[in-house]
Amino acid sequence: MPLLPARLSQAEVVSAYRRIAPLYDRWAYLTESRARRRAVELAAVRAGESLLEVAVGTGLLFRDLVARNPDGRNAGVDLTPAMLERARRRVHGMPARNVELRQGDAFALPYADGAFDLLVNAYMFDLLPEGDFVRVLAEFRRVLKPGGRLVLTNMAQAERLGERFYETIYRLNPAWMGGCRGVALAGPVAAAGFTGVRRERLSQMGFPSEIITAVK
Ligand SMILES: C[S@@+](CC[C@H](N)C(=O)[O-])C[C@H]1O[C@@H](n2cnc3c(N)ncnc32)[C@H](O)[C@@H]1O
Repeated sequence: MPLLPARLSQAEVVSAYRRIAPLYDRWAYLTESRARRRAVELAAVRAGESLLEVAVGTGLLFRDLVARNPDGRNAGVDLTPAMLERARRRVHGMPARNVELRQGDAFALPYADGAFDLLVNAYMFDLLPEGDFVRVLAEFRRVLKPGGRLVLTNMAQAERLGERFYETIYRLNPAWMGGCRGVALAGPVAAAGFTGVRRERLSQMGFPSEIITAVK
């Protein structure tokens, strides 16, 4: 099934998420909390490792990663300062020694090759043009060590009638969905050179998510 086109430019993403930031956590709790929990389980953080979350948003998932890795390196980037600010507040005071949150772009991550054991990314590809998926995934692969693990979660394409509700909203006005539409990432992840690609799918309040795991 063809994907709906991405409709927000990077500048529009930053301004949309500046507006959405104060309300974001409620929406995320209602529709995506189960998928985030599953992503954390599948990430299976090994204490002391180096991990990176790209597009940390308000830090909902990042907090759970940091909690499992108090002695390791915990890095997070996001394009939108208003979202990052909330992530900073969320992890402030956690008993973790090495937490770095900075503004950064998934297309050009500010890290050396092979810097991380684990890279996690949630609900960001939903916003990107399909033609950019493999390029961004190759950038994720670049910063992972050989054998490094990738865990992605994103809005999935609708398969049931109830799930089409969100696509309808997106078609009416993509900004009402924060620019997110359903995508399918298993193919692009393999095309970017990852191996052992696995996919799970779940639905919460009729909102479909997929969780992809793979290895460099
Ligand atoms: C739907 S939110 C998801 C936030 C968080 N990952 C979560 O699961 O709650 C999308 C986030 O992706 C960020 N984002 C979009 N494009 C990005 C890019 N090219 N690089 C880094 N972050 C980006 C936005 O700023 C926003 O915080």
